[in-house]
Amino acid sequence: MNQPVALPPTFVSQLVAWQRAHGRHHLPWQQQREPYRVWLSEVMLQQTQVVTVISYFDRFLTAFPTVQALAAAPQSDVLSLWAGLGYYSRARMLHRCAQALVDQHGGVFPSTVDALVKLPGIGPSTAAAIASFCYGVPVSIYDGNVKRVLSRLLAFEGDLSTTAASKQLHEKAQALLTLGLASGAAAPCEVMPAYTQGLMDLGATVCHLRSPQCETCPVQSLCAARAASAQTQYPVKLKKLKRTTERWLWLRIQTPGAIWLERRPQKGIWAGMQAPPLFDSELSLHTWLHAQGISKVAIEKAETGDVIKHVLTHKDLYLTPVTVSLDQVFVRAPDTLLQGDWVPIEALISAALPAPARKWLLGETRL
Ligand code: ADE
Repeated sequence: MNQPVALPPTFVSQLVAWQRAHGRHHLPWQQQREPYRVWLSEVMLQQTQVVTVISYFDRFLTAFPTVQALAAAPQSDVLSLWAGLGYYSRARMLHRCAQALVDQHGGVFPSTVDALVKLPGIGPSTAAAIASFCYGVPVSIYDGNVKRVLSRLLAFEGDLSTTAASKQLHEKAQALLTLGLASGAAAPCEVMPAYTQGLMDLGATVCHLRSPQCETCPVQSLCAARAASAQTQYPVKLKKLKRTTERWLWLRIQTPGAIWLERRPQKGIWAGMQAPPLFDSELSLHTWLHAQGISKVAIEKAETGDVIKHVLTHKDLYLTPVTVSLDQVFVRAPDTLLQGDWVPIEALISAALPAPARKWLLGETRL
């Protein structure tokens, strides 16, 4: 094992100077560093690219201009606006967090990381982003980009797929910031927004995973991985994500004017969203159709389409689409476990459909 690399004291000031001159300044959430906007953008940006987030961010703020408006909205409205962004648990937590903020904090975001992480769905990095951007608190964000930048800067050998190593690098991130501010040349509240944004900008635009642009990097002379020509060996991640596979039959049951959609349960895939019903076998699909009183003739005419593959973080879904066309609506059996309803075709556009359902039912490719 190599000796740990000393923390460079000028990293903070060099990064801040670079961010001010060359970083991103035009993003919608940078225009007003206000906690509600920062929080919303951070949650949206957790698993989604900036270009995609921009339009969602604007639409979301138009629909829910304040945390109070978001807290008061029905969950289905929040999920509809999130439809297509994926990782829908983020939207459900966002909604719950807005309600907790209103109930427990009078709708005002607390300013410390400790208080922020007690709120639903706010992890240490989002808390640090809110505290540093909005309140100038000297606390380091610590997301995937920061892990990559700092593991290269410090040639950090720890395996970041382990909690222990990840915690160690997080502590170094904080120590690096504290060291950089120690000269006292600038007050933390003056530098923190540029420093936090600088870390994000460096990770997103320069210190790429596969082809880092070291020639344009403002801290190239401080980077231990570059000195060893070993940039792409960091971050070290030894454990691979375990993936699973699920196969479902996916039933589109339609009349000339409407489609049957069910509200998904609050747990599991697409929790809380609206989607055509899923079945784990042909038997359960046919049992369900019979229980609804669907005619034998309609069932026999069911059309099976090509399998749709949908990739989630931890699993691959293989969805076999089955279409049953009816002349008229059926009355659902009273013991149907999931809540479902006929949704008029023209209302589908504003339903809380997950991306593959949007694509299947509406032909939309926005994923
Ligand atoms: N990724 C996460 N937070 C971000 C931000 N504030 N600006 C750009 N990209 C980000």
